[in-house]
Amino acid sequence: NLTGLDLRAEIDRLRRERNAVILAHYYQKPELQDLADFVGDSLELSRKAAETDADVIAFCGVKFMADTAKILSPNKIVVLPDMDAGCSLEDSCPPEKFKAFREAHPDHIALTYINCSTEVKALSDVIVTSSSAETILQQIPKDQPIIFGPDRHLGGYLNRKFGRDMLLWPGVCIVHEAFSETELLKLQAQHPGAPVAAHPECPPHIVDHADYVGSTSGILQYAKTMEGDTLIVATEPHIIHQMQLALPQKTFIGAPGADGNCNCNICPYMALNTMEKLYVALRDLEPRIEIEEGLRLAAKKSLDRMLELAS
Ligand code: 13P
Ligand code: SF4
Repeated sequence: NLTGLDLRAEIDRLRRERNAVILAHYYQKPELQDLADFVGDSLELSRKAAETDADVIAFCGVKFMADTAKILSPNKIVVLPDMDAGCSLEDSCPPEKFKAFREAHPDHIALTYINCSTEVKALSDVIVTSSSAETILQQIPKDQPIIFGPDRHLGGYLNRKFGRDMLLWPGVCIVHEAFSETELLKLQAQHPGAPVAAHPECPPHIVDHADYVGSTSGILQYAKTMEGDTLIVATEPHIIHQMQLALPQKTFIGAPGADGNCNCNICPYMALNTMEKLYVALRDLEPRIEIEEGLRLAAKKSLDRMLELAS
């Protein structure tokens, strides 16, 4: 029973005692972002996990992110406050089906979005995040056939932007899929001139209305450099917390779903992590990420290639 505990003070005490670093993604609840040692996008969090000299990584994000931390830092204890914090993109791409897809296209290389299982990473040639995908794709010769999974919207966006014809795995993010074009147009009419920033996991009917398309860190950077004082944000709305901290004088409006409300775009997986669960994870060093060594090494190859090519 955790009633009466000062969770913030207890988390701070345990982080010192355990020599733990707390990493949080921009889609985490504000209270978790506020106590984290580092808040970032998927690429930045992978880099932090690879570089840290802490003994424990407490990962406030989803499982594929904590798995990535363990793949890159196998000697650290990696805890994820809620092991059910999955991802619809990872779920859309079962390893045995992905393996069959690869085998059906033996002349293609597999460029794979980091939002996938460790098994799928092990079956891939190069991993990308939304902030590194463009740089990495431009280093692959145009005549090299590519399969891209699991996010068909990110893959389609890259195909259109760079004139590629990558074969796309049919996965989607249920959160970014839920934005409504009609409601977005209504919101733009209410805020004439306000730019729209969208994550490339959004479908084309949202991305087509965006003034800026990029990763969570890219959207945050755009908010800091844009002219004007209002921004419409088409990604998971918890990122708005960082925008309000950095730019308190500006207005940030979450793009709506079909009900006109931006809260339908809260990622249900990210939302599973709480202060209580983080406290228990630091106290018990459970639930812990464990990955079989052969699988880890196979997955690390494609992640290392990302880290090399992304810089
Ligand atoms: P980035 O933070 O890398 O833009 O990715 C967002 C995401 O999909 C997390 O699920
Ligand atoms: Fe996965 Fe989408 Fe949630 Fe990101 S926002 S973790 S892609 S379900």
